[in-house]
Amino acid sequence: MISRRAKSIQPSATLSISSKAKELARQGKPVINMGVGEPDFVTPRHIIDAAVKALNEGKTFYTPARGIPELVSAIVDWAKRERGIDVKDENVIVTPGAKYAIFEAIMATVEENDEVILLDPSWVSYEPCVQMVSGKVVWVPHSEGFEDAPLEDYVSSKTKMIIINSPSNPLGVVYPKNFLKKVRDIAVDHDVLVLSDEIYDKIVFEGEFVSPVSFDDMQERTIMINGFSKTYAMTGWRLGFAIASEEITKHMLRIQSHSVSHPTSFVQYAGVAALKGSQKCVEEMVAEFRVRRDMLMRGLDEIGLRYAPPKGAFYMFVDVGRDSMEFCKELLEREYVAATPGSAFGKAFNTWIRLSYATSRQNIEEAIRRLARFIEA
Ligand SMILES: Cc1ncc(COP(=O)(O)O)c(C=O)c1O
Repeated sequence: MISRRAKSIQPSATLSISSKAKELARQGKPVINMGVGEPDFVTPRHIIDAAVKALNEGKTFYTPARGIPELVSAIVDWAKRERGIDVKDENVIVTPGAKYAIFEAIMATVEENDEVILLDPSWVSYEPCVQMVSGKVVWVPHSEGFEDAPLEDYVSSKTKMIIINSPSNPLGVVYPKNFLKKVRDIAVDHDVLVLSDEIYDKIVFEGEFVSPVSFDDMQERTIMINGFSKTYAMTGWRLGFAIASEEITKHMLRIQSHSVSHPTSFVQYAGVAALKGSQKCVEEMVAEFRVRRDMLMRGLDEIGLRYAPPKGAFYMFVDVGRDSMEFCKELLEREYVAATPGSAFGKAFNTWIRLSYATSRQNIEEAIRRLARFIEA
């Protein structure tokens, strides 16, 4: 009864850890969750107020599939302000979360057996998105230091897309300009699309965030993905967007209009408030993430665990030197600290784990203590 397409998708490797963490918390155990990829901050007040206002004003009807004109226009302004590019409404699509923008973009462009290049390790949902359209993922290892990768050795006549995520989940790497220039050269020379997932663009502590669209000839072949979940602590609202060529957004729009129709009406008004309102809330959250990152790095240094030094996002990818699934299970059972096994993110990181520091300073301090005890035992 089940389609080949659905069967091709593996259950999330992180599911058993997160459901176990929830179960232990229900039993009253002092679980510290460093497994989840969501800010622990409540959405800023002016954004909540905008949604409430929209509801009170009766903004409860269907909206255009592309998104409400006010939000589309705010995104056009955002593109000029943040990326220095001129885009039209026709280049924009507002989606229920960045994840759905990624899914639509892949659905709209990748054919059966097309190859999609992913850097190893990468965020957990890219591979299933490609599998759902019967595309083929080609994993490319990072070079030493995680800031470069030999893409040129893996590109072929079948390559349709390269997926770049900077700052990256799970590494926290902010890819340097010379790597993105290489991505640009390969994309242009081989006529390949670049899906640039920029959802952590505002959470940068060191280095400079560079988007592929800042290079010549890249605007047409880049599908830029962004969203509100991480920058504005709006994970549950489900709001994201994509900027791409008119041709690509036109086809994403067809998929959207015949599936989810559009993102929730009043949530889109909250999105307008987020983009047009004061960005001080973002600065404050990023400053707090930086303090937490530094705490966690110091703690791991003291324990003597190796990690990829994160320059952005809110994750730390840590080498624990043994099977990551077992490590995470035992860490949760014995010390009630939830982490994500590295095996969820690619092929070569079976002995690494991802710790999310989107949790309070007290939690991070306590998690370091428990981790140290766990390692010593
Ligand atoms: C790299 C990356 N892209 C996309 C998403 C999805 O974000 P959204 O909540 O907007 O769907 C996430 C969320 O974890 C992410 O880490």
